[in-house]
Amino acid sequence: MISVSINGYGDDLTVNGVRIGDLTPAEHESIEKDMGGQNYSPLENVVVSKVKDSSTLVARRPHPDDIKRYIETELIDGLCCYSAVNQGQLNKTIVDSVIEHLDKEKLPTVPRSIRHKYMSAFLLAVTGITGMDKVVPKVAGVESWELSFKISRRWGYFKKGIPENEVIVVGATGNFHGRSLAAVSMSDDEDSRNGFGPFVPGIELVPYNDVEALEVLFNKKGHMIASFMVEPIQGEAGVIVPSDDYFLKVSKLCKKHNVLLAMDEVQTGFGRTGKNFAHQLFGVKPDIMGCGKAAGGGILPISFVAGRKDVLDVLTPGSEGSTFGGYPLASVVGTYAIKVLVDDKLSENAQKQGDYLMSNLNSIKDEFPDKIKEVRGKGLLTAFEMHNEKHLDGHIVSVGLLNHGVYAKETHHTTVRLAPALTINKGQIDLLSEAIRSVVKGL
Ligand SMILES: Cc1ncc(COP(=O)(O)O)c(C=O)c1O
Repeated sequence: MISVSINGYGDDLTVNGVRIGDLTPAEHESIEKDMGGQNYSPLENVVVSKVKDSSTLVARRPHPDDIKRYIETELIDGLCCYSAVNQGQLNKTIVDSVIEHLDKEKLPTVPRSIRHKYMSAFLLAVTGITGMDKVVPKVAGVESWELSFKISRRWGYFKKGIPENEVIVVGATGNFHGRSLAAVSMSDDEDSRNGFGPFVPGIELVPYNDVEALEVLFNKKGHMIASFMVEPIQGEAGVIVPSDDYFLKVSKLCKKHNVLLAMDEVQTGFGRTGKNFAHQLFGVKPDIMGCGKAAGGGILPISFVAGRKDVLDVLTPGSEGSTFGGYPLASVVGTYAIKVLVDDKLSENAQKQGDYLMSNLNSIKDEFPDKIKEVRGKGLLTAFEMHNEKHLDGHIVSVGLLNHGVYAKETHHTTVRLAPALTINKGQIDLLSEAIRSVVKGL
């Protein structure tokens, strides 16, 4: 007979007689390998347990003398859930908003087929912070990209007059927009694509940061192109920052050819790069943009598409929807995620601490020029790239950093990304930087 019994909380949470607090890191790994899909390769010998402060995690590691036991250790969170926790782990204002609304305000859960009062708060907050006319809430980051893609196509047919089924959407090489079939159809990363074809048609790629290539394509096929979908800074590709004037030129070209500029701000939004949204670094405004990650304050998966009225107005009832997109709790958390971004001046802190982190990384590079090739970043979206040599391995760096009390992860073989919470202080940046220096020195 199939049955399950679940009791207790935290370490006492017990599922079918297995008390979670009793499991060693090795046992967690073995359960995950046996029962979980193998779509990730997490760092070994470490299991995160709880939060100490906004930038510090408590983790369990194998006991050095007894593999049947574990020890607890603190880790500076150098990644903050790939920029989903810009507001800091368990941000008090956001957590209080959840407790207050669930407990005292008796927040309902209803779908979009009936209005709830918190939707207005969310729409007012998002249009206020983005300066966009209209917003559609979604859940995962990739859904905001997917919806931008669909809106682009519809706009191409309904507004630009592209003949049916002939629309083209342009992307940039090295992009990362998530894991849906449309997103991997735009990807040029073989690992994400292998075995998932046939892919969504009507997509063309141009090299990132190459305005001439875009111009050539627009000159040839501009009448069929609905949008250029692009990250303002490519995060997953290893924090690739384009030339200062790239987006100004892109924006001009898009206007000239009546092509939408659709930006993916899922990773770069919400203060990460020192501005509320990274397109502001480059003096342009997209026609439509997708946000996710920190839009949920590190508490809930929340994403949205925001854009110009005439663009978002191509949606009609029945053409789009999402059960949990903008449901009451998401609307509350999404509103408070924006309140914290503004009230706690997260963009300013990202700029200030990011400058400090970058100057530390650059001095580590100057100390070890034979190991570090380049330091890149804006605000607190930063990375260092090592020379392409076997012993300069990003995974070895990640493991070394763990042993020095820092959680960070390589993005490619030679690149390590650092994206701590935007609440981080100078002392914690010093700890982070010193750990990097020691690990790089030992390579
Ligand atoms: C730029 C960008 N777009 C989209 C996504 C996908 O977000 P999610 O994993 O929440 O679907 C990511 C995730 O890293 C991202 O960095």
